[in-house]
Amino acid sequence: MSGVYRLISNIMYKLPDLKTAQIKDKKVFLRADIDVPLSGNEEISDDTRLKDSLETLNYLIQNDAFIILAGHLGRPEGIENDLSAEPIAKWYSKELNFQSENLKNVEINGLKGWEISENLTVLENLRFHEEEEKNDPEFSKKLSSLAQIYVNDAFASSHRAHASIVGIAELLPHFAGFMLTKEVQALSLLLEDPKRPLVVVIGGAKIETKLPMVKKMYDLADYVLVGGLIAEETETLIKITREKVSPPTNGKKSVLLVAGLNVDETDVTSKDVENFLQIISLAKTVVWNGPVGKTEGREENLEIGSAKLAKGIIESGAYTVVGGGDTIGYLKKIGLLDKFSFVSTGGGAMLELLSGEKLPGVEALVD
Ligand code: 3PG
Repeated sequence: MSGVYRLISNIMYKLPDLKTAQIKDKKVFLRADIDVPLSGNEEISDDTRLKDSLETLNYLIQNDAFIILAGHLGRPEGIENDLSAEPIAKWYSKELNFQSENLKNVEINGLKGWEISENLTVLENLRFHEEEEKNDPEFSKKLSSLAQIYVNDAFASSHRAHASIVGIAELLPHFAGFMLTKEVQALSLLLEDPKRPLVVVIGGAKIETKLPMVKKMYDLADYVLVGGLIAEETETLIKITREKVSPPTNGKKSVLLVAGLNVDETDVTSKDVENFLQIISLAKTVVWNGPVGKTEGREENLEIGSAKLAKGIIESGAYTVVGGGDTIGYLKKIGLLDKFSFVSTGGGAMLELLSGEKLPGVEALVD
């Protein structure tokens, strides 16, 4: 089996190449990143992740596979109608030029979904089943019973050891989708030899995912700049620098800066943005995940912290990497996304890979 080899710290990844899979007339379970931001009325406010899934999906369609496409949307607790994958199914139907209004409801082996065409079915939000996040062996078996081949193209979810990411891969012949492969290649290369100073900027709302990342990035980067809701955890963040028992392996000393919030707590203070921008202007590599303040409905205001930060990062002339659904959506809205050197679909997954962690979803593909 041919594959892609990249050295990540001491880990050798060998990703099974989808082009070597015999997929003609086979049922293929495609795990995609369908976790996109939704606004009211089931509107998809940013479809970047869905567009990124098309390369692999079209390859499977063109090579006569029968595809079950599935993923998760948000963090539902049980069934939450406003996190249904129906708008996603409609999006694929429209994008692939099938009729997109009254989709045909189907239920396969107890799993609900929508038949888009003879060879494409989209499943309902997998997180409506609590077994998904528990990587429940019975649920993995149920998912695997739908197909003969498993393809993971969900890089942004591959830091989660869930049934549709890990359990199913253990039960079926498995391959890496094109998007996932590109992400692992690009980020691994960056990790091997980042041009320094390396500045990592972490913002956003998923505090429990991000806090451990700040700690790990503190070892890797020269500067870690933290802003947004996560900055409310200042005390915990500051402890990170004091708690360190061993010096970073490369002998260097990192700097952690935590931005304060302005009075109405919607943004970082202007003074802190200026401090961040000064550091960023010296960088040779910048990695950014998570807006540093509220961006929703403020796209027109290019004076907010995240917009100023975006402009500063681009103007730094450094190699720039940006990732995460909200950050990508925002940068697209303000027309700056294409100015970044590499755009990762992953937020938590990108940071975790860059911190040298093994991603369970990637590991599960490696034999
Ligand atoms: C993401 O948006 O980063 C992925 O979809 C993972 O989502 P999660 O943090 O809810 O697992």
